[in-house]
Amino acid sequence: MNPQASELNQIIEKNSHSVLEMLSERGRNIFFPKKGILGQTAEARGTSINATIGAAIEDDGSPMRLDSIASKINLDPSLAFPYAPSFGRPDLRSIWKNKIYEKNPSLGKTEISLPVVTNALTHGISMAGYLFVDPNDEIIVPNLFWGNYNLILANAWGGQLTKFNLFKNGKTDIEAFEEKLNSGKTGKKIVLLNFPNNPSGYTPGDDEVHAIVSVIKRSAEKGNKIVAIIDDAYFGLVYEEGIFKESIFAHLSNVHEDVLAVKVDGPTKEDYVWGFRVGFITFGIKGGNGELYNALESKTAGAIRGNISNASNLSQSLLLAGFSSSDYLLQKQAKYNIMKQRYNAVKESLKNPEYHKYFTALPFNSGYFMCIKLADGLNGEDVRQVLIQKYSIGTISLDNILRIAYSAVAAKDIPELFESIYKACGDTIQ
Ligand SMILES: Cc1ncc(COP(=O)(O)O)c(C=O)c1O
Repeated sequence: MNPQASELNQIIEKNSHSVLEMLSERGRNIFFPKKGILGQTAEARGTSINATIGAAIEDDGSPMRLDSIASKINLDPSLAFPYAPSFGRPDLRSIWKNKIYEKNPSLGKTEISLPVVTNALTHGISMAGYLFVDPNDEIIVPNLFWGNYNLILANAWGGQLTKFNLFKNGKTDIEAFEEKLNSGKTGKKIVLLNFPNNPSGYTPGDDEVHAIVSVIKRSAEKGNKIVAIIDDAYFGLVYEEGIFKESIFAHLSNVHEDVLAVKVDGPTKEDYVWGFRVGFITFGIKGGNGELYNALESKTAGAIRGNISNASNLSQSLLLAGFSSSDYLLQKQAKYNIMKQRYNAVKESLKNPEYHKYFTALPFNSGYFMCIKLADGLNGEDVRQVLIQKYSIGTISLDNILRIAYSAVAAKDIPELFESIYKACGDTIQ
């Protein structure tokens, strides 16, 4: 093992033996090279002739650039063309950390790490897999989950997704979660939670969130070491009262010394910048301190350095500019209002009692999606095909469930969407 990796492991062990146990073999071996090209470049910052980093500089000291590209970018070239650090831009990291506290008042004064910038959430989940998932490790997910977890965590890192039943009587099936978490040997457990959930569009109510947190706490008290990866892709898009509006990270980051909360989030969906590819990984554990978090951040940045090197500086700078704009919050609220209007239109359309003949809605209250469960005898793929061919409507079929991204449909078109689904069901059954 590289001595720099052992040094980080010793720091982690000194502060939390559990976290060291949670790391995968890859996670234990990784480190951010302090003495490598990046470290030496950092030490040379400010020198009068700097011949370190592999980037080109104009004679006037600004980044070398082509006007055909630079003329399209209304930012100082130094914010767009050079590499960003593997950890992410420090200014963006600290703004995002402040935002996490603002958006999650229950965090109170809980100490959390500085967020490390990833190439959006997919990559953040992948880096969490790098650090914590060994081949054949089980990763507990609800039976409705984002299908890409398979490629990210099973194909890439060899983990095995193992499912618990998500819904019982219209709410989270807490018993199923508890049973799954406590089944098998006592030891390291990996849980992946995603609220608002893709595909169901469900966020648990305040009471259910407390129940989930209690289940995790009890499980840790029994001797389990739990890595709770929290995929907050759709954070903030909650449309009903009484539903948990914060991230469950706010509670899990301070619940038990043997529960490491790994928050994966970012502006992709929250700030409507899908193609920017910026996300964050943030760590929280009860009793966690700066030394432990720095070591985890270094390991994360090392994993990123060996994977994508660093995330887009241009995207990070655009986001920084947006976050500091005085209109940012107002504009965000306006988009939220549009999304909520669409959500309300879905609720309204579903009031038609005839629809129950062919489908019922799964619980939903947030995010971009909702799902309908087709009645027995109907086939999701058949209905999907008829919807495209006869009604010019696109949906996603997941066995006998159709996922509907109402986030992408104007409120005025939502009644027609459901009416057509109803008709398409009738067409396929004949
Ligand atoms: C639950 C969930 N997590 C993560 C992502 C990926 O986000 P990103 O585009 O930031 O990689 C998605 C995107 O569809 C998602 O639905």
